[in-house]
This record gives sequence, C-alpha cells and structure tokens, in this order.
Amino acid sequence: MAVSLWVEVGHDYMVTSPHGDVCNGSDLIDDRPQDGVFRVHRDAFRDPAVFELEMQRFFERGWVCVGHESQIPHPHDFVTVRIGRSPVIISRDGQGQVHALHNSCRHKGAVVCQNQSGNKRAHLCPYHGWSYASDGRNLLIKDKAEGDYAPAFDLDGHHLQAVARFGVYRGFMFASLSSDVPSLEVHLGDVRTLIDLAVDQAPDGLELVPGVVHYRFRANWKLQLENTIDAYHFASTHPSYLRLLERRASMPQRADAPKTIWQSQNKPKEMMGSFGLARGHAMVWTTTPVENHPLFDQRAQLQSRVGAVRTQWMMRTRQLNVFPNLQIASSAAIQMRVIHPVSVDSTEITSYCLAPVGEAAQKRRQRLRQYEDFFNPSGLATPDDTTIYEDCQRGMVSGAIEWQQGHARGMQRLVLGPDAHAQELGIHPMTSVSGTFEMSDETVFHAMYRHWRKVMA
Ligand code: FES
Ligand SMILES: [Fe+2]
Repeated sequence: MAVSLWVEVGHDYMVTSPHGDVCNGSDLIDDRPQDGVFRVHRDAFRDPAVFELEMQRFFERGWVCVGHESQIPHPHDFVTVRIGRSPVIISRDGQGQVHALHNSCRHKGAVVCQNQSGNKRAHLCPYHGWSYASDGRNLLIKDKAEGDYAPAFDLDGHHLQAVARFGVYRGFMFASLSSDVPSLEVHLGDVRTLIDLAVDQAPDGLELVPGVVHYRFRANWKLQLENTIDAYHFASTHPSYLRLLERRASMPQRADAPKTIWQSQNKPKEMMGSFGLARGHAMVWTTTPVENHPLFDQRAQLQSRVGAVRTQWMMRTRQLNVFPNLQIASSAAIQMRVIHPVSVDSTEITSYCLAPVGEAAQKRRQRLRQYEDFFNPSGLATPDDTTIYEDCQRGMVSGAIEWQQGHARGMQRLVLGPDAHAQELGIHPMTSVSGTFEMSDETVFHAMYRHWRKVMA
C-alpha cells in the first residue's frame, strides 16, 4: 500500500493501491479488541494520498483551532492563520466582535493581509488596491466610478468571505471551512471539562504571554499528536534533560535555576492514566510531585474556589489533545501548541505560553523560566522530540514493514468507558486506563485512530 493513486468515486475521493484495492483509511487501522490487537499501518504516516485525504476530511471539513482570543484583545486587532491550506484572518471589529474571514481578495484572489498580527481598521489589497474593513466589509473598489461596471457586478457581494463556522470556548478559538459540522459544543464534548481545568486555575482565566514560536520538522503531523500523550518516551528520549535536573539539584550555587515539577526531594511513586474521548480527543495525566508547581502555594484559595477534587487535578500534569490540531500541555508550564500539517512528511508548529490573567510578576517569571527551560527549539526537550519524529519518518520509508507496534501498552488494563478517575471529573471517555508511570499506557491513541478511521472512510 506504499504507492497510491487517486480515483474519483461519485463526488468523493478514495485512496487506492496500484492493484486497485481501495484503502480509504479503514485498511490502515487493525482494531480487534476481542484479540487484544490495535495496530496502525505505516502508510498512515508516509502515503501522500492519505495525507491529501486527511487535509480534506479533518482540516478543510472539520473544526480546527485557530488561536486564542487574548491574541486580539483590542478593536481592529487581527492575526492571520491557515485552515488546511486556506489563508484566514481572525479579526476583531470596532464593536468587539471577532470574525474569521478568508484572507483572499474578492477581485483576483490575492492574500489581502500579509502580516502575522497587528491592528488595522482597514486591510488594503496590495494588487489593485481594494480595501476591506476589520469586519470584512468591502470599503473601496479603486476607481469604481470610472470602471464602467455592468449593474450585475454589484449583485455579487464584494466583502471578504466569512469562514463557514467560527466559535470560541473559554478563549480558545475554533473555525471550520465547512458548515456541515456539528456544533462546537458537540465537537468538544468532554474536552470542555478538561479545558476548564486549565482555565479555572486562575479567577480571571488564562491569557497568552506575548511572543510566539514557529518551528517546522520533517515528519508527519500525527507524530506530534501522539508524542504529547506518549508517557513511554519521556526517560529514553530526554536523558540529557533529566541529567541536567540532577546536576542542578547538586549545585547549591544554582539555586536560582528553573525548578520543574519533575524535580523533587521526596518524589512519590508516580501514577499515570489516560482518557480516550469521542471525536479523537485524548488526555494523559500523571501525579508528579507538586511542590514546584506554580499553583503550589495557592492550594488553599484554589480549594475554596474550585473544590478539593479539581484542585488535585489542576496540580497533576495533563497533556490534552483536541483533535486534530490543538494541544494543551499543563506540565512544566502551560503550553498551547497548534499543529499545521504541511505535507505528509513536513509539519509546522505554532507554540505559545499560557498563563493566568493578573499573575504576580515573580510567579510569571518562574512560569516563563520553566516554559523556556523545557519547550520549543530553544528549550531542552522539544529538540529531542522533533529529532526523533524525523528519525521515525526516515525509518518508516521502507514499504517492507507495514504495521507499527506502538499502540499496545496498557491493553490488559483497559477500561471501556469511564474509570474511577473519569467519574471523579464527571467525564465519559470511551476508554480509560490508570497504573504506574512505567506502565506508560498507549491505549490513549485508540480513540484518536478510531475517529480517524471513521472520518477517513
Ligand atoms: S487582487 Fe485584490 S485588488 Fe486585485
Ligand atoms: Fe518529549
């Protein structure tokens, strides 16, 4: 199945092998719970035709994350993003309403706004000078009066076209190029409870810390989606980071070095667990030591505001995937990652630091040092991960090896539906697992690939 062709079936597309057998995604997941088997075919990561179908199915016909509202706090603020392959402006108008607009001039298609972010009352197309207001309304067709347009010209609208669907949940902005999607509420489901855990840690919610990091790696986008909820890789992929933590601990003169939640004098036996949620979302949690957690000395206030159970969950590390392109990592700090697939073997990441609104300066400093220490190309962990993704992609070139063996740990502990931890949170995952950290469950990927197969097929 390594080489594929396109055939048109009705109005739809399917992936075929050179031998003509249709493998529209369903052939790429070997899901036999009765036999204790769950496998993902390597073509899911290396076949350009599969990638094309993913772009159509998930990024051009479904909800995707397009940023956080705190990026555009003021009237006429905007950011430019991509949804699938389409350039889009997310713009706040003069009345404070946010619009998701196709960033393509109605005249001849030029990308109207060329900046990544900024504040503009009007966007001027650089080609023939048409201009658009921050709500997308066409303000000017240059020299229109002299243009001898026929009356029919104005029967067609000249405004920037709105993206079919746009919605916000607790500051996280989502959009869909297609109107044929369930409501955002239905799409997110129990993810809302898990986003609430991040947002409610501060009375006034979260904001993005100014500054954004973009980086790219030469590997399939799903390797990033998997890695964030892959507890199994931590010790073997990041040994230099763990050694550095040990060295810092043994150097009293480095008392000002960033401390992390993985650094502790009295490290308890760690537990981990996972939830596989409807529509491909998933979360992994661990009970890491908490005394270096930024919330540690606010435990009493938190408990009185959100209760003991939610406080305990806020102090755990939580890696949340909101399928297909948002990751919220609550660990060394709170990181928000947005995944932009570029091609089957190229992916771009946009990464932000999230922090409580109104956080004290000293706390913010501690949070930022933890964030810089661990995340992004300049941090100590992200380069380990992105290098490994590229190694995986290079290693998967050979068509002779068909199936991955990386989705099987934890099968014997799998609970169908909510376990006691999920019940505590009031969520209804399709699968739950918990055990020692060393168990490092991989069943957390199943819900994602079951959703993937369903939508692809
Ligand atoms: S393409 Fe924008 S004004 Fe011509
Ligand atoms: Fe990692």
